[in-house]
Amino acid sequence: MKIAFAKPEQPTTGTYIVGVLDDRKLTPAAAALDKKTGGLVTRAMGSSRFKGRKDDLLDIVAPKGVPVARVILVGLGKAEHVDALRLQALGGAIVAHLNRIGESTAALPVEHLPGAPLEAPDMAANIAYGARLRAYRFDKYRTREKEEQKPSLKALNLLVTDVAEARKSFAPYDRIADAIYVTRDLVSEPPNVIYPESLADRCKRLSAFGVKVEVLDEKQMAKLGMGALLGVGQGSIRPPRIVVMQWNGAPKAKDKRPIAFCGKGVTFDTGGISIKPSAGMEDMKWDMAGAGAVIGLMEALSARRAKVNAVGVVGLVENMPGHNAQRPSDIVRSMSGRTIEVLNTDAEGRLVLADVCWYTQDRFKPQAMIDLATLTGAIIVALGHEYAGLFANNEELANRLIGAGKAVGEPLWRLPLGDSFDKDIDSDAADVKNIGSNRAAGSTIGAQFIQRFVNDVPWAHLDIAGVAWSKKDSATVPKGATAYGVRLLDRLVADYYEQKD
Ligand code: BES
Ligand code: MN
Ligand code: ZN
Repeated sequence: MKIAFAKPEQPTTGTYIVGVLDDRKLTPAAAALDKKTGGLVTRAMGSSRFKGRKDDLLDIVAPKGVPVARVILVGLGKAEHVDALRLQALGGAIVAHLNRIGESTAALPVEHLPGAPLEAPDMAANIAYGARLRAYRFDKYRTREKEEQKPSLKALNLLVTDVAEARKSFAPYDRIADAIYVTRDLVSEPPNVIYPESLADRCKRLSAFGVKVEVLDEKQMAKLGMGALLGVGQGSIRPPRIVVMQWNGAPKAKDKRPIAFCGKGVTFDTGGISIKPSAGMEDMKWDMAGAGAVIGLMEALSARRAKVNAVGVVGLVENMPGHNAQRPSDIVRSMSGRTIEVLNTDAEGRLVLADVCWYTQDRFKPQAMIDLATLTGAIIVALGHEYAGLFANNEELANRLIGAGKAVGEPLWRLPLGDSFDKDIDSDAADVKNIGSNRAAGSTIGAQFIQRFVNDVPWAHLDIAGVAWSKKDSATVPKGATAYGVRLLDRLVADYYEQKD
């Protein structure tokens, strides 16, 4: 699908989409069309339930004399509520609808609405962004698709007076959408295609954007003493990797310390010797979604030349049972020097992050460190599929993350950390054990474990197990890999960590 911005002019083919505000209040474009067609818009609304509320849609087959094939009315709701997120959702809904009805070309005039928060070029940019986000499709392995099974929409034209301004406004969104596609592709790929080495190879593409990419192999990790991460990987024939991605977009910043992002990249999680039940195990191909988000984020930041020093570090392993797999009761030594009693080999993400987070704070002395991980099933029990779980040792960082999440529609809900939880991971045989003594507060226990490997750096842990993959379509996220975290952290950087000049 191609998205273009063009001067307002009524199209002569395809579908013409016009907006209607709450209470059937016509936008100027809708009013002009109504007038030109002798009341087509008002008559169609009058014989339907269309009220102009958000999510209202009305298809009208164009009568003789109207050059387009079809007119669609889209409800905008109240003008003052037509903000960035609402417009993105609108763009997404339009794409989905046009693909459903089999349209290939459509045009939509975008004008400033009295009382609305955005000017027309930014409105058009947000509609375009939402359209791109919804148009994503992972179809590279479908070789026998019939034409009618493929998306029909080829061109979406947004009609604005100031075309140059709209293009300029859209440019950074377009880069972020590219990055989101990268993350969704990586997370959607099957685990026989994406495994630690192949995922590390894909990261190298970021060097085209000016990102410095380093790959650590198991020899280097052994030398660094990363026994926790290596223990997880040792049951697999596919060797683990760590990828370090550095984007130095603010070389002249007063505070040169980077903001750091760490990702859990378990390319497949069988559970290891503490093996998972087979039903649903296929979901564990996306147990690398934290790493996928970090990789996409590093692309987003570098592609839009963000004025920030950022580092992304992802720990890539496959968690398999096998003759060399670690056993429940094994004791491993992490890079921090702390010893860990592994009582459940399926609590592997925290083992990976123990070494990845330690390595990151030790090497980069970041001003803040945020990890993303599909860490616990318990977070799904607690929060479902809309909110990711947030754990933090710093109020300011927590509040910034919550704010950024709200702004982009990737919400976070904070859950507690505390000494009483921490006691529960004291081990009888080593410094710490990787599970609690029962199922209580499972997500907090996971976070508490990671915190044992975090010093006094402001740190936040995002448990994204409930939001990394979606089983149903939503306005800007088709079902499948969501790329949760890319938009959120790009926004966090833009709002709080970018150098302003
Ligand atoms: N990758 C899983 C968590 C997960 C579950 C992600 C469902 C997405 C959907 C993680 O490695 C895991 O297995 N966690 C265990 C921890 C337990 C053994 C303490 C869990 O949640 O059951
Ligand atoms: Mn697991
Ligand atoms: Zn896992």
